[in-house]
Amino acid sequence: MTVQDPQCMRLKSTIVDHANIGLFAINRDLEVVLWNQFMEINSRRHAKDILGRNLFECFPELPEKWLSRKINNVFLLGNSSFTSWEQRPYLFKFPHNRTLQTTVDHMFQDSYFYPVKDDRGEVEYIYISLLDVTDVGIYQGLLKTTIDKQKGLITQLKDAQHQLQQSEKMAAVGQLAAGVAHEINNPVAFVASNLRTLNSYTSGLVSIIEAYQAAESRLDPAGAEMTKISSVKKQVDYEFLVEDLEQLLKESDEGLGRVRRIVQDLKDFSRPDTGDWGWADLHEGIDSTLNVVNNEIKYKANVIKDYGEIPNIKCIIAQLNQVFMNLIVNAAHAIEDHGTITIRSGMKNDHILVEVSDSGRGIRPEHIKQVFNPFFTTKPVGKGTGLGLSVSYGIIEKHNGRMEVESEIGTGTTFRVWLPIEPEEQQEVSTESSPTL
Ligand SMILES: Nc1ncnc2c1ncn2[C@@H]1O[C@H](COP(=O)(O)OP(=O)(O)O)[C@@H](O)[C@H]1O
Ligand SMILES: [Mg+2]
Repeated sequence: MTVQDPQCMRLKSTIVDHANIGLFAINRDLEVVLWNQFMEINSRRHAKDILGRNLFECFPELPEKWLSRKINNVFLLGNSSFTSWEQRPYLFKFPHNRTLQTTVDHMFQDSYFYPVKDDRGEVEYIYISLLDVTDVGIYQGLLKTTIDKQKGLITQLKDAQHQLQQSEKMAAVGQLAAGVAHEINNPVAFVASNLRTLNSYTSGLVSIIEAYQAAESRLDPAGAEMTKISSVKKQVDYEFLVEDLEQLLKESDEGLGRVRRIVQDLKDFSRPDTGDWGWADLHEGIDSTLNVVNNEIKYKANVIKDYGEIPNIKCIIAQLNQVFMNLIVNAAHAIEDHGTITIRSGMKNDHILVEVSDSGRGIRPEHIKQVFNPFFTTKPVGKGTGLGLSVSYGIIEKHNGRMEVESEIGTGTTFRVWLPIEPEEQQEVSTESSPTL
């Protein structure tokens, strides 16, 4: 049997006809000259209705501009060509027969264009094969969805890890602060006790000197002893010394009191048992917070306290202090040169309101919605973690309260914290909670 045998030709034509891929051919006038069974079945158009007719007339839905350029190129250049379903999902809008697939609307096709040349090497026909690759497309789609989901999960994981590291860092800093506070307590206690003793010794010494002074009148004013006494007195500036001594001791005592207060505040602040619910005075909390952050704000802002009458509330005061600290430090950061931070408190409809306002640069409208999101920060690397407000939001939420923000560019920002006097359900407060905005 040779290729020219009628038997062989018949075999070939049978195979072409029954192949499970679309096969059709066109001549230079774009008339269809071959249309196999696959094409008949899927286009629901019989070969006898198609053969000899212009391809685009029969199928106006074909992408004519693109396809005629493609066909022209094959006629002109005599090279075969290929288009993957990924570039162009389909040539013909054939139905796909996957019953459960709703995301795919038509059969995906890979299309191949082959030139068929005459004896002189001129392209006489082009035959086009269409391969049904719907399954590949479906699986690729599924794979992409899975990969996208995984990417999302990886990002979440990274965020969570970062957040965990941050809160571990915070806890470590807290512990460190508690340790340092404890260490400072002892020396402060003995300095305070020594200072008290020094105070009484000094007044003792001064009264002895005064007693001696009373005896001075009995000395010869021009005598050697009196001259010596006068010269020493002058040398040490005795009058001033006596006056200043008392002042110095008083100031040292005040300074020591401040150290004590800061140590106490640090201890309150970093207490590892910060999960305790109890009745607390918010004003005391805010005051002790102001002591802790004083260094951060004293050159930036005047703090105005406009406290109203509020009852004690049931809360975890150490956690609320953390909220106030975040708000006050943020306020100070928002002030460029010098400004004011106003802390207001009051009551409205059974709720306590604490407001922290600043005269800072304000928050851009497009940022307002994001400020409570974990990791949202406009501060340079190392300066901001973007966790302050997110953690605060979580704390207030767990106290059954809510937080609001109002801001105007160039004028300032006000953060409002609303808290119930006694939350209905007291929950374990975790500093890792974040808002869902
Ligand atoms: N009082 C404020 N004035 C202006 N912007 C603020 C103020 N408070 C918060 N922001 C904005 O919200 C962002 C997030 O704050 P925060 O969660 O405390 O994180 P961080 O202070 O580490 O940046 C800040 O970077 C800042 O852009
Ligand atoms: Mg902050």
